This record gives sequence, structure tokens and C-alpha cells, in this order.
Amino acid sequence: MKGIILAAGKGTRLYPMTKPVCKPLLPIYDKPLLYYPLEVLMKAEITDILIIIPPGEEKSFSELLGDGSRLGLSISYREQKVPKGIADAFLVGEDFIGTDGVCLILGDNIFYAPDFDRLLLEEKRKHQYASVFGYWVEDPRPFGVVEVNAEGYAVSIEEKPAVPRSNYIVPGLYFYDNDVVAKAKTLQPSARGELEITDINRLYMQEGKLSVCPLPREFTWFDAGTADSLLYAANSIKKMQDSGIFVGVLERIAWEKGYINEECLKQSCQEYENTQYGKYIRSLLQREKGR
Ligand code: G1P
Repeated sequence: MKGIILAAGKGTRLYPMTKPVCKPLLPIYDKPLLYYPLEVLMKAEITDILIIIPPGEEKSFSELLGDGSRLGLSISYREQKVPKGIADAFLVGEDFIGTDGVCLILGDNIFYAPDFDRLLLEEKRKHQYASVFGYWVEDPRPFGVVEVNAEGYAVSIEEKPAVPRSNYIVPGLYFYDNDVVAKAKTLQPSARGELEITDINRLYMQEGKLSVCPLPREFTWFDAGTADSLLYAANSIKKMQDSGIFVGVLERIAWEKGYINEECLKQSCQEYENTQYGKYIRSLLQREKGR
């Protein structure tokens, strides 16, 4: 299965912050926002990854992640010339997807749960056509809202409804079979001028093929698209890390999954030596030695 991170948003809702630095590269506490969705793909054991970026930004993205080999990944970049909506990712990424299935994650979505790895791998294993997650929120109106039947399949899905039919929203993490590319080609722009991911999901739903996995209550999810949500996300990550729970440490996942060896991990320790991030990686090595 291939992975796509849609990180093409210039982040106009965050101006002037995002005038010189695009949104996915802004910091969320001690690391760039992009690290968090990338960690999710790595937890799902997806190593062939396309990052869809805003025009003219390849240099800054590749300064951060290069071709991914330092993390045992294969990372490529493609520009989305015009922001045409989330579903456009399957058109921009058509060649990259080839004949595979694909997992898409939005570049401003942060997920955390202690056993998220297990949940992701389970979802990936049993995944057949299209799978999304359902997350309970008090006010679902700014999101894609889904209604689910007893068998775990969507029966209604709407984008930003004025009168939501449920409190379950669909966060920005989606698993699809290869049919998603053909489906994306049939879409028409919505009233806000975008190719909507909710329209893709509705096409699968109409075929009885959109399964919805409810996320447990203790699950953390943020959509860091505004100054307030960015700050909230940063504070939450700090709080978690102060209590010893580290999120978005890519080298750790790469090492745990066996994508990189100890030598690679040591190199990152040296490079990030003076930071909390680097100290955390060093502690992983020390813990391993103490076993
Ligand atoms: C987008 C999707 C929406 C989804 C949300 C998750 O909303 O259209 O269905 O629930 O991401 O972050 P947007 O960011 O375009 O408002």
C-alpha cells in the first residue's frame, strides 16, 4: 500500500505566519507539523510515501526529509499547482499510486493513542474497499460528518452540514483501494470550488463499501488549521511529552519497525544533540543497552 500526505495547503488562514513558511513546516511544539502525519503512516508500516506540496516548496521539504532514506523510507514530492481540494491528491498522485491501494493523510491532522499502531495495522489488514475513522466531537459542523450502521458501514456522509445527523466526524486519514483514482476523475468541484473527499466517500458509501472504524474516547485528534488549534495542539503535545509520552519522533518508529539500524539512530542523536528531541532519541539507545 502506498501513502500520500497532502501537505499542499499554503495556510492562508494562518497569515502572516505562513507567508514565508508553509503550514506543514510550522512547528507544533518541538517539531514540524508534518512529522505527526508522517509518523502515522510509519506506524501503519507504509514506507513508500508521496508528499504533495505547495508550488516552489520542494527545497524546504527535502531539506527536512530528503528522500526519506535516513528513516528507511522512500519519500517523493509532487506539487499541487492549484489548491483544488483533498480528492485532487489522487489525481496529482495517480502515477505514484499505480495499481496499489493508498492511504491518504492530511498534513495538518495530528493523531495520538497509546495503541494506535495496533489499530492502524488491524484497519490496514482487514481493509477492502474504503475505510475511514469516526471521531466523536461536540460540534461536528465544520467537518465531514458520518452516520454508521450496526455493521460499521456508513449510511450517510455530509461535508460541513448545518444540521449534522451525528456527532461522528471523519478525520483526515483514509484507506482506499485502487478504484479511488477512477472515482476521483468523476468528481465535480463543490460549492466551495473543491474536489471533496466527502464526495469520494459518498461514492464508496453508495456501493456499500465505506467502512467506519470508531476511534476510542481516549483518542487524541487535532486538525491544526487555525492559530488557536495550532497553539492547542502545541500545548497538548508539550503536556504529553512532559509526562513522558513522546509523539512524532520519527527516528523512534523507524528504529522500532527495523527500518534503520543503531548507526543511523546515533547519527540523528548527534545532529539533534542539543535538543529535547535528540535527548529522547539518545535515551532510546541507552534503554536498549540497559536491557
Ligand atoms: C477536511 C475535510 C473534512 C474532514 C476534515 C478533517 O475539511 O473536507 O471532511 O472532516 O478535513 O480535518 P477542511 O480542512 O477542508 O475544512
